[in-house]
Amino acid sequence: MSDPAIGEILVPEDKLAARVKELAAQISEDYADTTNGLLLIGVLKGALFFIADLMRELKVPCEVDFMAVSSYGSATHSSGVVRIIKDLDLPLENRDVLIVEDIVDSGLTLQYLVRNLKSREPRSLEVCTLLSKPSRRPEAADVKYVGFEIPDRFVIGYGLDHMERYRNLRYVAALEQQG
Ligand code: IMP
Ligand code: MG
Repeated sequence: MSDPAIGEILVPEDKLAARVKELAAQISEDYADTTNGLLLIGVLKGALFFIADLMRELKVPCEVDFMAVSSYGSATHSSGVVRIIKDLDLPLENRDVLIVEDIVDSGLTLQYLVRNLKSREPRSLEVCTLLSKPSRRPEAADVKYVGFEIPDRFVIGYGLDHMERYRNLRYVAALEQQG
């Protein structure tokens, strides 16, 4: 795609695929003894491709459900005020639950999600994020599985959008801010 908004490629397609395989191997090992399977919860829409690729590499019994949240704020900064747009279909009680996120930036969205889902009494609750911007947070977020740590730049592709565009890029690139 030739578009001046697509900047430097931060994570190319082959690196994404290799890391997804590694994460899936680690998760499969960690949940080998699960009693009633792993329940993946994808946070729409950004985690779309990540969860699809990750799930197909898992070697443990698993199910998937989705949640959509919106954080109030500007296009490129989250405010920490989160609203549930679409809730889960499945109950979490006594389940091994893994939240699958596209990116943890300020960590505010995740903080809200974890608190909300914990109150539904899962057997276990962990977080897997494709990308993390650690420099944006005063303290480490409680994320067990991280695909890539990236610098504090706004990124697009492999599910991540800028104003709903660029999700379909096969790689993760920096957004070239214009104007
Ligand atoms: P947080 O609450 O600041 O951690 O941001 C959470 C949400 O903001 C993510 O799930 C993304 O949907 C969005 N977001 C944060 N940084 C980026 C980015 O660099 N590109 C695209 N979306 C982002
Ligand atoms: Mg978004």
